[in-house]
Amino acid sequence: MALKKKRASITGVYGYVPEYILTNAELERLVDTSDEWITTRTGIKERRILKGNDKGTSIIGIECVKGLLKKTNTDPMDIELIICATVTPDMFFPSTANIISNEVGAKNAYSFDILAACSGFLYALTTASQFIESGTHKKIIVIGADKMSSIVNYKKRENCVLFGDGGGAVLLEPSQDETGIIDYMLKSDGSGGPYLCIKGGGSKNPASMKTLKNNEHYIHQDGPIVFKFAVTNMADISEKIMKKNNLKSDDISYLVPHQANKRIIDATANKIGIGKEKILLNIQKYGNTTAGTIPLCFWDFEKKFKKGDNLILSAFGGGFTWGSTYIKWSYNS
Ligand code: ACO
Repeated sequence: MALKKKRASITGVYGYVPEYILTNAELERLVDTSDEWITTRTGIKERRILKGNDKGTSIIGIECVKGLLKKTNTDPMDIELIICATVTPDMFFPSTANIISNEVGAKNAYSFDILAACSGFLYALTTASQFIESGTHKKIIVIGADKMSSIVNYKKRENCVLFGDGGGAVLLEPSQDETGIIDYMLKSDGSGGPYLCIKGGGSKNPASMKTLKNNEHYIHQDGPIVFKFAVTNMADISEKIMKKNNLKSDDISYLVPHQANKRIIDATANKIGIGKEKILLNIQKYGNTTAGTIPLCFWDFEKKFKKGDNLILSAFGGGFTWGSTYIKWSYNS
């Protein structure tokens, strides 16, 4: 008799966004922009900002993990691994996952960060699920969190309107039935690097007066080029994972897309032929929180999900990186 493959299931979700709301009206006062432009070109109305000195992405991750442990009634000592996807680590090292593990009392867990920009959560989820599928781990926490306000230049209108701070975390355990993470497809293409990057502060171009003066510690993005790649690839990969798993648009309960620009999301939904009612959108409230968008979507829409629902997760981001994950949701909330 063929052995059945073990699956990893998401058994709990939690999200966190900081209190401060940066509205389009406030951005109108900072740069030459308008609520009308931002709304029609991106779908964003407001985003959250983590204010205060000495507050890094770990603050977001800690809030998410503490909430998740409480909600799922999980002892932090039972967590074996914590993975944090982020492009805004508190510092180069130690990893933000190490910092979070310590603060939540996950003393038995080892932990590390994953960097795949806006696709980071999908990369981290796939990585974590391998440890469950292999049978070596039983409880893993995957976090996607970013404090994008720390790398956004609030004098550049083409960037500052897009991003916000926030994140989410999920608990991953072995599935008890046919539900769980069914399939994934991940891609990267390093030739896209120069179009979306931070030029300064790394080992190639260490921080200096020159990098500061040239604003090389901020996100550099060639928006229209990234837009074209994002539209094509996010739609393609979503279509491919559906074909691979013999899924028709009617079989899909929800599309859970990375929230970078509503126009990219609409193009993806069009390509896979699903209607508005099945697209999960919270971009208007939070903007692009990079690794945070997909788990924040889980957090906002968890109550809609029913056990057995087919979800297609899709993302595109810096690297370039992109991917899609097919999940059969594991619980009713
Ligand atoms: N307010 C008003 N006008 C603006 C603004 C603004 N905030 N930003 C740009 N404009 C202007 C431009 O200067 C340009 O003016 P011009 O015609 O006089 O030259 C005009 O609006 C059109 O600019 P475009 O850049 O062509 O506008 P576009 O429709 O492409 O939208 C955007 C720009 C929103 C950045 C879009 O290109 C985009 O969403 N790109 C992809 C972002 C993305 O998905 N990133 C990946 C994830 S991020 C990550 O991984 C970290």
